[in-house]
Amino acid sequence: MNTDISHRLIVALDVDNAETARGLVEKLAPLHVTYKVGMQLFYREGVQFVRELIDAGHLVFVDLKLHDIPNTVAGAVQTLVSQGVLFFNVHCLGGTQMMEAAAQAGKKAAGAIGKPPPLIAGVTVLTSMSETVLHDELKINEPLEPYVVSLASSAQACGLGGVVCSAKEASKIRKVCGDDFVLITPGVRPKGSANGDQSRIVTPQMAIEAGATYIVVGRPITQAPDPAEAAARILEEMSLVGVSQP
Ligand code: C5P
Repeated sequence: MNTDISHRLIVALDVDNAETARGLVEKLAPLHVTYKVGMQLFYREGVQFVRELIDAGHLVFVDLKLHDIPNTVAGAVQTLVSQGVLFFNVHCLGGTQMMEAAAQAGKKAAGAIGKPPPLIAGVTVLTSMSETVLHDELKINEPLEPYVVSLASSAQACGLGGVVCSAKEASKIRKVCGDDFVLITPGVRPKGSANGDQSRIVTPQMAIEAGATYIVVGRPITQAPDPAEAAARILEEMSLVGVSQP
């Protein structure tokens, strides 16, 4: 297996408590993947569990999708960063003022603890959302792809380091935002696994080929009878593409 690619697999620890998460991390330890702590785990175990993973040497992406008025989001960013959380996300739909406030607060808080600015990604359109829902329920009449690309461009202009998007939009965003912009793509399903509630899905190989920096996979790994084997198979699929480490 190509170990350079390992950290580009983000395993979503969407479980109820730290004990279950520790069990998964232990099983996946030889693979050196990145972990995602989202709302389900964070709201129970808080930043302490994130710190536990970071202190054990793991890369951690905190997926809280911050979305509030600029001042409140800036405060949340300052709280996260001052506790050593340097990779997390905010919603692009919070608007440019909110994204700028997040970027500035992140830079300032990181400087205060002698760290480089955090990697803040903007959430574009959730991968569970189809174009029909976007049009019929949310009344956003633009076609999905140009809409997502324009959200990504404005995230970049606001000082964010990347976006969360479907791999289906990744190659367009890569062209517009350049090689250094980080693309995090959930909605990834290895061949033969269930879609769950995801709508715009692709395989790991397709996501990497489309220009994804990171792919996020939850249930196909965490609910597999052998999570390490499932993750290893996904890493193999990702390695099939001859791309260099970002
Ligand atoms: O289990 P599954 O692979 O569908 O998990 C995907 C993870 O990625 C979930 O934790 C979900 O919250 C997250 N996510 C997503 N779509 C986005 C942003 C985050 O599915 N646009």
